[in-house]
Amino acid sequence: MMQARSDRMRRQYKTIVLVPTMGFLHEGHLSLIKEGHRHGDDMVVSIFVNPTQFGPDEDLESYPKNLERDLELLQKQGVNAVFTPDAKEIYGKKFQTYVTLEKLPNYLCGASRPIHFRGVATVVTKLFNTVKPHVAVFGLKDYQQLIVIRQMVRDLDFGIEIIGAPTLREPDGLAMSSRNNYLTAEQRISALSLYKSLQKAKELIKSGIRDAATIIDAATELIQSYPETDIDYISICDTETLVDIKAIDRPVVMALAVKVGKARLIDNMILNQ
Ligand code: PAJ
Repeated sequence: MMQARSDRMRRQYKTIVLVPTMGFLHEGHLSLIKEGHRHGDDMVVSIFVNPTQFGPDEDLESYPKNLERDLELLQKQGVNAVFTPDAKEIYGKKFQTYVTLEKLPNYLCGASRPIHFRGVATVVTKLFNTVKPHVAVFGLKDYQQLIVIRQMVRDLDFGIEIIGAPTLREPDGLAMSSRNNYLTAEQRISALSLYKSLQKAKELIKSGIRDAATIIDAATELIQSYPETDIDYISICDTETLVDIKAIDRPVVMALAVKVGKARLIDNMILNQ
């Protein structure tokens, strides 16, 4: 049905824009839709909590949901269609074809979530083939995801323009995330340490420090000074290859993942811009 709709839109010379999400929408998701409106005239949002991108010990079962509220929010955003497939529709019983990348998933989040980007690349491929967008919008909040999708689109000739949209933050700096919903009031304070460590890193670079390890040590110390934080990784890496760098001698992104209570939070920032 969605494919037939997409074909119809394309016959009417509409420019289809897709914003893929896992629902439980917040202002960050809505900012992608606002950005998307600038790039086309048929706005499609997908909501699908994709099981193949969750590891066996991750939060697939507890991932927050509120479809009714999501649909209300989307109506206000002037969305033309919402695609809410169920898992059976996406992954038939005999599903066996996956999209994997050779290098990019070995770094950052991929290192501790080994099947994650295979799941993301596969589901995004299926969403692309179903919705047939001309343009798709992804958040810089999930920096590695954006780089993986761009690479996949280039490698496999999808012919879809990928837009990267900036990270929306709470007034105090915490990156908006559906997973912030897991935080208690005390953990919410600790969660801010991710943003604070990124800002600290930026300051250190401004003050002339070029050694990545020194910056990572400072960030580690800052985060560990908050209760209930458990650092998965802090990395300063090349903005395109995601390979760790030793000295800040080119455009770099600092990316980190920290468990705060049971919420695994991620954030990142381009440090030298
Ligand atoms: P989800 O986590 O729901 O995020 C959907 C999109 O919103 C992603 O492109 C993400 O980068 C963006 N986003 C999340 N928080 C944001 C924020 N604070 N500011 C701006 N953009 C933000 O990412 C996924 O879903 C899935 O992996 C998906 C791509 C849908 C594939 O299953």
